[in-house]
Amino acid sequence: MIHDPNDTGLPPDAPGDAGDATPPSTDAPRFPRRIRSFVTRAGRVSTGQRRALDELGPRFVVPYSPNPVNWETVFGRQAPRVLEIGFGMGATTAEIAAARPGDDFIGVEVHEPGVGALLKLIGDQGLTNIRIIQHDAVEVIEQMIEAGSLDGVHIFFPDPWHKARHHKRRLIQPPFVALLASRLKPGAYLHCATDWQNYAEQMLEVLGADPSLENTAQDYAPRPDYRPVTKFERRGLRLGHGVWDLVFKRR
Ligand SMILES: C[S@@+](CC[C@H](N)C(=O)[O-])C[C@H]1O[C@@H](n2cnc3c(N)ncnc32)[C@H](O)[C@@H]1O
Repeated sequence: MIHDPNDTGLPPDAPGDAGDATPPSTDAPRFPRRIRSFVTRAGRVSTGQRRALDELGPRFVVPYSPNPVNWETVFGRQAPRVLEIGFGMGATTAEIAAARPGDDFIGVEVHEPGVGALLKLIGDQGLTNIRIIQHDAVEVIEQMIEAGSLDGVHIFFPDPWHKARHHKRRLIQPPFVALLASRLKPGAYLHCATDWQNYAEQMLEVLGADPSLENTAQDYAPRPDYRPVTKFERRGLRLGHGVWDLVFKRR
């Protein structure tokens, strides 16, 4: 995909390797630190992205705050609401939002150039049905999204964290899936896609084990029409790599 999230630039097991949340064995007090699904990368923000951040950020970026948000007020209307986790550079988000003008989309991404890139697409295409939060999606969902309030969740090509010792950083784990499921309305959908087979298998197992979710397919689902094939995916498919979609519904 876009980048190799395992490439932290740190030697394996170096102190501060964000993949290892176990504090060093000293007498220092232990402050449990949440294992995050991302590493903060210093990415260059282009001139166009910077302009979009400055000019469109105030209208389309919702600042993180640890309080539930009234999304009807934010969007200025009552419409089905879909949350996307980790939109990358936002091309898929913008394409889906343009094709589904009757739905509202909350995109969550930590990477600033990606936020700038999606704002630029919003400006270029005159989209009004997207809002962005630049923050850890786990905290956003815990704090800013009320239970039973979402009509859908999109998680497309989440960082696969290839190495076994980094698997704990994968987003799709039982506690997080239970949290996500709690934010869905009954009948609402959770759509994940990955090009990493081992992660697809983990997704199938974890989603399948959540008692409040039901698979819409036997196992993997056909790609729903609304999810465009990205150029990375097209290249992977040409090279013979697989892509797996999973679509579950809240019971
Ligand atoms: C491999 S990229 C995929 C991007 C995009 N969905 C696509 O299909 O091209 C995963 C993205 O998720 C973001 N991400 C990972 N964990 C996140 C989290 N907890 N909260 C918000 N964004 C996160 C990363 O910054 C990265 O941009």
